[in-house]
Amino acid sequence: MMPASSSGTAGSAAPQPARDATLGAARAAACGLAALLALAGCKRDDMYTQDRQSSWDRNNFFRDKSTMRLPVPGTVARNPTDPDVPEPRVITAGMLERGQQRYNIFCSTCHGQSGDGLGMIVQRGFQNPGTLYTDELRRAPAQHFYDVITNGQKSMYSFAARVPSADRWAITAYIRALQASQAADPATLPAEDRARLEASE
Ligand code: HEC
Repeated sequence: MMPASSSGTAGSAAPQPARDATLGAARAAACGLAALLALAGCKRDDMYTQDRQSSWDRNNFFRDKSTMRLPVPGTVARNPTDPDVPEPRVITAGMLERGQQRYNIFCSTCHGQSGDGLGMIVQRGFQNPGTLYTDELRRAPAQHFYDVITNGQKSMYSFAARVPSADRWAITAYIRALQASQAADPATLPAEDRARLEASE
C-alpha cells in the first residue's frame, strides 16, 4: 500500500492534514473489513465451497464421463412441449370465438381490437405495426400468420411459449375475419347489423 503522504498532494500549495487523517482512517477501516471478510471466507465449509462440476466438465463418476445427465427413461415432462397441429381444413364458429378471445388477449394490445395497429401499447409509444389488412397480408397464406405468431418478427416477440399450436390457427382464422370485416360491403350485412351500423354513424 502507498504511504498516505504521496497521495497527490505533491503539486498543491498547502498540505491538507485534516483530509489526509480522514483518508487514513478510512483506509484502515477498509483494510480491517477486508481482513475480517477474508477470515470469514476461510471459515466457510458449507455446500457453498464444496467441490462441484460445471455443466461441460468431464466427470469420471459416470461411465459416459458427462457431467450433464439425461432424464431417466420414462420421465414424464411437467410442462410437455406442445406438438404442432396441422392447419385445420374447416373453420368452425367455436374456433373463431376462441381465436377472437386469444387475439384480444395476446395481440390487440399492439394490433388493436380491429387490427388497425393502434393498440394501447402503440398509443403509449411502441412501434406501430401497421394494419393487418394490407393487400400483402390479405394474400399471405395462413402459414405466414402462424409462423409470425410462433417465431415473432423484428420487434414483435415470439408467442410460442404462450399460444399453443391450435390457438395460433384459431387466431389466424380470426385475423381473416377481421380482414373480411374491414372490406365488407354494408349492403351484404344482415338487416340487424346494417341497422346497428347506421345507428353508430
Ligand atoms: C408488443 C406488440 C405486439 C404484440 C403483442 C403483437 N404484435 Fe404482431 N407485430 C408487432 C410489430 C411491431 C410488428 C411489425 C414487425 C416488423 O417490423 O416487421 C408486428 C407484425 C405482425 C404481423 C405482420 C407480419 C408481416 O408479414 O408483415 C402479423 C401478422 C402479426 N404481427 C400478428 C400478431 C399476432 C397474431 C399477435 C398475437 C398473437 C401479435 N402480432 C402480437 C407488434 C406486436
